[in-house]
Amino acid sequence: MNYKLRCMHCGKIYSPDEVKYTCPVCGNRLGTLEVLYDELPNEKKFDLEHKGMWAFSKFLPVKADHFEVPLLVGNTPVYEKVELAHELGLSNLYVKDDGRNPTASYKDRASALAIAKAKELGISTIYCASTGNAASSLSGLTAASKMKSVIFVPKSAPAAKITQLLVYGATVIAVDGSYDEAFDLSMEVGEEFGWYCRNSAVNPYLLEGKKTGAMEAAFQLNWKVPDVAMVSVGDGTVVSSIYKGFRDLKESGLIGKIPTIIGVQAEGANAVMKTFESGIFDEPNDMEAHSIADSIAVGKPRDVLKACKYVKASGGKFISVSDDEIGHAIVELARKTGIFAEPAGATTYAGLKKIKDELKGKSVILFITGNGLKDINSVKEFVAQPYVVRPNLKETKEALRDAGAI
Ligand SMILES: Cc1ncc(COP(=O)(O)O)c(C=O)c1O
Ligand SMILES: [Zn+2]
Repeated sequence: MNYKLRCMHCGKIYSPDEVKYTCPVCGNRLGTLEVLYDELPNEKKFDLEHKGMWAFSKFLPVKADHFEVPLLVGNTPVYEKVELAHELGLSNLYVKDDGRNPTASYKDRASALAIAKAKELGISTIYCASTGNAASSLSGLTAASKMKSVIFVPKSAPAAKITQLLVYGATVIAVDGSYDEAFDLSMEVGEEFGWYCRNSAVNPYLLEGKKTGAMEAAFQLNWKVPDVAMVSVGDGTVVSSIYKGFRDLKESGLIGKIPTIIGVQAEGANAVMKTFESGIFDEPNDMEAHSIADSIAVGKPRDVLKACKYVKASGGKFISVSDDEIGHAIVELARKTGIFAEPAGATTYAGLKKIKDELKGKSVILFITGNGLKDINSVKEFVAQPYVVRPNLKETKEALRDAGAI
């Protein structure tokens, strides 16, 4: 596909070989670029089952003979939840479970794209800074592609995510600092050694990989897109990608409308929401971030400008929910749908519960971005403990009676 890159801040248009990642005039933070295609395809058949996200490769900034990681990325299920929709007063509720990706998060869509681009350039090492998922995704997908990854994570990232990195054989730098500090360090080191950058907000192509989540959902729903799409927000790239996916489909004539996009943040890390509400999108309201939803515990969101502009264009907004609401949402979502989401994944459900009255009568899709097994510690305090018994019938029956199971 032929494409150009446009700066989100100054609007300058670049050809892909003119710039590396961001607008040289506006810098890394505000000068994020968006990919604009010369022409979008108008085809209706997509082989999701065999190709996953690559079914949409004609909508992606890759060459016809691009590299595809030998794992099925995407083709994650969308479930229609009739009873739950009714209970919440919605006309329809759809839940797209992206925890079903190869490394169990939405981030695989971006990593697959990063690998394709790095292969194009002949670069064999890719680096990223991550709260955990982008990193485990990159390390898993580079392992499958016989490439190397160098990962910068905050030392405090959940053990399951760090273990994933080590199992896949990544070089892991655990930074004794915040995600925001790990990010700045990664950029410095990655630049010095000429590695390919898989930092989503900085590299405009990664969002294009992520937008396939929205495209898949539209295809799976037979191009009848819901009124509202909800997704959790840290740096702001995933929420931007959801908008961009729907926008590209609308421009290509495949869908009639773009859903209203609602970004959900954790209360202790709601910098994007604050910036959105200030109305001045190029003056980010950075903060120190705290949340059990580690994946979205971002205080200095890197894609804030794009996220605010795109969400505004969709007629949407940002909301935030407390850690307590997130914890309860994990448990309730699991019990009502069978989907066990990590805290950042269930944040969308917490957001839906919070504003359900506003959404009365509407159809809604929730994007669940990560699997619950990624972080079991945060949810422990929201569930009961198991009954411990000696292996005899009497104690077992007592426990069952106590639990109300008999
Ligand atoms: C599970 C999960 N959900 C949501 C997000 C938010 O994405 P973004 O930082 O692009 O806003 C992340 C990012 O790490 C994530 O891992
Ligand atoms: Zn610019």
